[in-house]
Amino acid sequence: MRKKIVAGNWKMNNSFNRGIELATEINKLVRKQDEHNVTVILSPPYIHLAEIARIIDKDVVSVAAQNCAAEPKGAFTGEVSAKMIKSTGAQYIIIGHSERRQYYCEDNPVLKQKVLRALENSLTPIFCIGELLSERESGNHFKVVKSQLEEALFDLPANAFGKIVVAYEPVWAIGTGVTASSAQAQEMHAFIRLTIADKYGKEMADSISILYGGSCKPSNAKELFANPDVDGGLIGGAALQADDFFAIINSF
Ligand code: PGA
Repeated sequence: MRKKIVAGNWKMNNSFNRGIELATEINKLVRKQDEHNVTVILSPPYIHLAEIARIIDKDVVSVAAQNCAAEPKGAFTGEVSAKMIKSTGAQYIIIGHSERRQYYCEDNPVLKQKVLRALENSLTPIFCIGELLSERESGNHFKVVKSQLEEALFDLPANAFGKIVVAYEPVWAIGTGVTASSAQAQEMHAFIRLTIADKYGKEMADSISILYGGSCKPSNAKELFANPDVDGGLIGGAALQADDFFAIINSF
């Protein structure tokens, strides 16, 4: 059985105090549930990580960083290493988000290094892939997504690849209010799984969780999550309110 995951990517939002408040609210709502069949992940800015990891109930909520350095340690002012992230109690790192690719020029070779740093420190990478609007309009979306997988992940040995969570986030759907239709999401998720199966075999492909991200909200999460190859969501805007985020968690 693949893990069902709902991860909230707070991006550069929430003061320290508001972040702690939001994490506390979400933890309380999830704690009260009878069943815990969804892995709930909060991905706040770095400064929140240690405190949120301390206050949440780790058996029902996990913590992710939004990025890490490509280098293991040293004179890299302003950077945060995977080892430091691990020491906060976080368990996951989002790597390759399209905002990192677009605004910070992170390309597949750099992202490959970041994935290695995460794995070396026993952190699970949530690896983001997805095409630009122009790439979809020119019919290149499958090609782009395939090359993102190949260039950043497909040198990993099978035992390491098996630890990855993939997030498909079409760039044109992020923060725009435009969601991929349920059929578009399923089509791409099935393609991603097939691409993984071609490289690592069907059993591996069937075990990898593939999340959808891009304007996922309480009103569309149910339809998106009902697809056989959609194993959850990476949520931006709708993760900033406890009730909305909780409604998405309950959309399975
Ligand atoms: P959004 O962001 O839900 O606000 O579109 C998703 C993401 O960037 O992970």
